[in-house]
Amino acid sequence: MTMIPEEYQIKNVIHQDTFLVNGELKKWTGKTTPVYSTISSTPNYEPTLLGSIPFMGETEALEAVDAAYNAYKNGQGLWPTMKVSDRIKCMENFVGQMKSTRTEVVKLLMWEIGKSLGDSEKEFDRTVEYIYDTIESLKELNSHSAHFEKVQGVNAMVRRGPLGVVLCLGPYNYPLNETFSLLIPALIMGNPVIFKPAKHGVLLISPLLEAFRNSFPKGVINILYGRGREVATPVMQSGKVDLLALIGNSKSAIALQDQHPNKNRLRLILGLEAKNPAIVLPDADLDLAIQECIAGSLSFNGQRCTALKVLYVHESIAEEFNARFAAKVDELKYGNPWEKGVMLTPLPEVEKPNYIQELIDDATAKGAKVINAKGGRRTENSIFPAVVFPVNKDMRVYHEEQFGPIVPILTFKDIQEPLNDMAASSYGQQVSLFGQDIKTIAPLIDALVNLVCRVNLNSSCQRGPDVFPFTGRKDSAVGTLSIHDALRSFSIRTFVASKDNAYNNAILQELLNSKESNFINTDYIL
Ligand code: G3H
Repeated sequence: MTMIPEEYQIKNVIHQDTFLVNGELKKWTGKTTPVYSTISSTPNYEPTLLGSIPFMGETEALEAVDAAYNAYKNGQGLWPTMKVSDRIKCMENFVGQMKSTRTEVVKLLMWEIGKSLGDSEKEFDRTVEYIYDTIESLKELNSHSAHFEKVQGVNAMVRRGPLGVVLCLGPYNYPLNETFSLLIPALIMGNPVIFKPAKHGVLLISPLLEAFRNSFPKGVINILYGRGREVATPVMQSGKVDLLALIGNSKSAIALQDQHPNKNRLRLILGLEAKNPAIVLPDADLDLAIQECIAGSLSFNGQRCTALKVLYVHESIAEEFNARFAAKVDELKYGNPWEKGVMLTPLPEVEKPNYIQELIDDATAKGAKVINAKGGRRTENSIFPAVVFPVNKDMRVYHEEQFGPIVPILTFKDIQEPLNDMAASSYGQQVSLFGQDIKTIAPLIDALVNLVCRVNLNSSCQRGPDVFPFTGRKDSAVGTLSIHDALRSFSIRTFVASKDNAYNNAILQELLNSKESNFINTDYIL
């Protein structure tokens, strides 16, 4: 074990003994759960204690529901009726304070989820940028709506209004960025939020609690800790949640929806599982394809919903591709997140190495081989990526979303084979297509865009840039997230209409001149 640089050592544990509800950081004196990192601080391996979080239950969950419900007040609360420009001011205030927490949050990202220093910094910076871009996008949306349309003798001002109380749950692999990609648009569109951090990457929210409390009116943002079953279930059972915003797995999404007494009223924004394939055509630039498939399948140890989770390589080039790909995987550097040049890092889920081992054992028992020398090597908190070939449909790794360091490779003779597999798959997020002959690529693109929602030509799959739509077909997503789309996903069109006559028009004119209404308002926010 190499020495941990001074600035990244854990010197003080964080005992999170407050939680944010109804604008107050309330003291928690009940049961707590310890938070451990799978990264060791000692030469003999031992998980590192990072701190503890409250183990909350139904009482606190319902307290948060009531706070959010009262903040919404059936659309009559301060937040949902506030001027857009004032909501923007609250958000600017928040992001200003958030920026000062960068060092602390980045350090916790490394310890809590094992994300490399560079990627942790990127996650933080990308989130700050996301907030600023969201503000700009809302200004634009506001400006487009700040006018009357006259159609068939009716004057109308059409805007977007909030939907109500939002329950927001993010994933452990992007505990800041993906969670905030839900939380921020939900809030800024006027919805009060109940937020429960992911199972890993919880303490990194602690430095932000005061910024949240200081920036928003009471009850607008409520933060709960604990297990989903204990905390999110009663929130849903209350029937007071109008929108479930979740990035995670479909099992939890379905279980939570089932708890809602009026499912027909519940709106959904979901980012769920994916099994994005790469298709490598015979004429692909192999250097590029290998480089992109490595980044695509193994960035952050494969723990990304957009990761390449199965590679289809044309049989005519498979031998060369496999040999070169396997050799490159073995060259990847493993180490603790702050070590220079690391691509592979400790896995935050204690059970993950055993799960990956199970997938390897199942595949090898059914005829595949691990084709890279280091594949499957274990330490206490990691397993070296295993490149598994040839994979077939009887193997678990073909069907399951591995979300970890194992790369299954299949060959194909006819392009219809991967297309058929994608059509039969439960998922439909993205695909990577490697090749250059446009006669082959053109019809493929035309088919692939209808099987998934993003075709990455000669590059790995990814969510960003965040201005592009992030969504999926089938079991992969409900709703669309991008800076532009998220503002729309977390709101509904609502408007004021009046017949075009002198009586009504005089009232409208007075409403505009007086600026008494926050809705009937033609102010531009520059
Ligand atoms: O976990 C899924 C993330 O949305 C992936 O985002 O493609 O930027 O890593 P990314």
